[in-house]
Amino acid sequence: MALPFFSSTRTIPDITAVPRHIAIIMDGNGRWAKQRFMPRVMGHQRGVETVREMVKACRQLGVEYLTLFAFSSENWRRPADEVSFLMQLFMKMLEREVGKLHENNIRLKVIGDRSRFEAQLVRHIEEAELLTANNTSLTLTIAANYGGRWDIMQAMHALSQAHPERATAFGEEELTPYLSMPYAPEPDLFIRTGGEQRISNFLLWQLAYTELYFTDTLWPAFDRAALESAIQSYQKRERRFGRTSEQLTEGKTNA
Ligand code: IPE
Ligand code: IPE
Ligand code: MG
Repeated sequence: MALPFFSSTRTIPDITAVPRHIAIIMDGNGRWAKQRFMPRVMGHQRGVETVREMVKACRQLGVEYLTLFAFSSENWRRPADEVSFLMQLFMKMLEREVGKLHENNIRLKVIGDRSRFEAQLVRHIEEAELLTANNTSLTLTIAANYGGRWDIMQAMHALSQAHPERATAFGEEELTPYLSMPYAPEPDLFIRTGGEQRISNFLLWQLAYTELYFTDTLWPAFDRAALESAIQSYQKRERRFGRTSEQLTEGKTNA
């Protein structure tokens, strides 16, 4: 379980480079459809095209990890037919796209609470993860029935289970291997489409020092050029992780 852990909150990445890890809240599907007098679910359908385009672009640009928020723990509150459409869409995607992901050497991971999914969906997820486990070009993580608070709580639970003898006093570094993405560095760049400026219970722990980027563009309209604009904005930032700007230019960075 304890995989080598890399915390981006301590090391300063080369800002001129492409972000290693991009995490995206794919928002605005419903509004995109509404603007076109179509049912909301057509926006989700069209949003899948954007997912394909982003995966391709990230792979070409050399992004190592792409994490997409597909369904939040709170999205169960939506009308039952929309929830069921989203679950079916997820299942269809797994069936149709996994072969292609594998051919393109992409590793697929799914994070979130699977206990509310149907057995068949869980099986598809497990098979897809197993098939692509050793792929190395890009790690695509889909957050489904994911919540940042759920993640922290499940990690706390797993950590305390692993050390029943210790009542308290765990350190941050001890918790991180039990969070949902121990295989990835923390996101460098967070993007939210659709105009809202909030985290909506996405990666609460992991976003501590991530650069945030919000755009009004609705997810189905987000494209490679829009992704490149987000990356350009990221490349203009100065990531200090608590240090001063002078420390960075002098190259004297204490851990
Ligand atoms: C994001 O688009 C997709 C999911 C939450 C599954 P929305 O469905 O939230 O679209 P808007 O925000 O209503 O436009
Ligand atoms: C966040 O979008 C979740 C996903 C994109 C999966 P929502 O549209 O559900 O977020 P809120 O409820 O407006 O914050
Ligand atoms: Mg929304």
